[in-house]
Amino acid sequence: MRTLWGGRFTKETDALVQAFNASLPFDCRLWKQDIRGSIAHADMLTKNGIITEADGKAIKEGLEKIAADLESGALRFDESGAYEDIHSFIEGILTERIGEAGKRLHTGRSRNDQVALDMKLYIRDELEDTERRITALLEELLRMMEQHTETIMPGFTHLQKAQPTTLAHHMGAYFEMFLRDRDRMRDCRKRLNQSPLGAGAFAGTTYPLDREETARALSFDAPTRNSMDSVSDRDYLIEYLSALSLTQMHLSRLSEEIIIWNTDEYRFVEIDDSYSTGSSIMPQKKNPDIAELIRGKTGRVYGHLMGLLTTMKALPLAYNKDMQEDKEGAFDAIDTVNNSLCLMEGMLHAMKFRTDRMEKSAGGGFTNATDAADYLVGKGVPFRDAHGIIGQLVLHCISEQKALEELSLSELQRFCPKFEADVYDALSMGACVDRRNTIGAPGTKAMKQEIAACKRLLERNEI
Ligand code: ARG
Repeated sequence: MRTLWGGRFTKETDALVQAFNASLPFDCRLWKQDIRGSIAHADMLTKNGIITEADGKAIKEGLEKIAADLESGALRFDESGAYEDIHSFIEGILTERIGEAGKRLHTGRSRNDQVALDMKLYIRDELEDTERRITALLEELLRMMEQHTETIMPGFTHLQKAQPTTLAHHMGAYFEMFLRDRDRMRDCRKRLNQSPLGAGAFAGTTYPLDREETARALSFDAPTRNSMDSVSDRDYLIEYLSALSLTQMHLSRLSEEIIIWNTDEYRFVEIDDSYSTGSSIMPQKKNPDIAELIRGKTGRVYGHLMGLLTTMKALPLAYNKDMQEDKEGAFDAIDTVNNSLCLMEGMLHAMKFRTDRMEKSAGGGFTNATDAADYLVGKGVPFRDAHGIIGQLVLHCISEQKALEELSLSELQRFCPKFEADVYDALSMGACVDRRNTIGAPGTKAMKQEIAACKRLLERNEI
């Protein structure tokens, strides 16, 4: 094994130790960030006279060539176990290719600040990617909202029909959730965006490094302030994983609703064939596997958040190898959420809404009972009394197997003399929804204002 630390050792490392210690199989993902950081470091070393112009040039060109070769596949990550991690791999290849100059790259740097930098650069890129995918999903939700301001459906509490609402209103709730998720990604970036490069092992360095210069070159807002914190901070990753967990939780809630809506009992939606799978035994089946998988994968995203919180718990300052364990779980959580976002957007786009079934279903289950009580309040009955009267009416309707609006006026008046002929208009589903125009409510007027606000928020670039 070509280690970066052979001098002090008299024996080879044990094979199992080598394999257990190595991170190249998974941190190879950081190669672009590692090279980017090394180029910024080498440029700064050159500008500040810490290495010669000639060495600086050779290092930079060598690193650019390695990047091109990794991109094209001409260079592959070594699977023989010869290199411990992405840092030793790239430095090793560089030195093999350009000789002596390659050995000067690590001047004033430690793998501790190097890996802290690589992860921050990587997470910054991924945050942007997640944000883009959330934006695409928000656009899809907004499109559905615009299309369905008048599509009436039942709203539920306790999974029991409660009051009528619209599909625009229902999707609008998810719009809000995912908009908060996008804000969380942006917020996380703000706290992440200080450069740890130059923190060294943890105590800075004796070379006159210009940390502000490397921070600028790598588009950070500033260098980190405390070099000990710089190498041992993984808060930003925990924040990202927690923002990802919330996003996946929202995806899971939406998936669950789609699964319910897609059942034969509801048939509110039909998931497109391209987003469904069949059964090996039951020929009639078309299963919502993608929605189920998105729901199911929520467990592993939460698991990775808990995993890292647990890894970091009680870690003394500064760097400890435990921190190498931040990567696999984080990478898996990022891939899972990013893929789920994309799949949800596609599935929604291709999904058919059975608006006739939704409207019909909204009519059952006394979803207009609150409106009936509100009607009596409009006729001067105190709300608590109106609630009691309508409760009795519902009981009567259940035994008669009728809806409220199917009772005759004289029947209604037996329960309360305040009922008049205009009650039937007040109980229609359309009227029940449309009279709800408080801020955030499903009435067409309120909903149009909400949609206009959502559009503005969607286009906003900052929080
Ligand atoms: N592979 C290591 C990690 O991911 C890099 C840092 C190693 N530093 C050290 N002092 N051994 O954390």
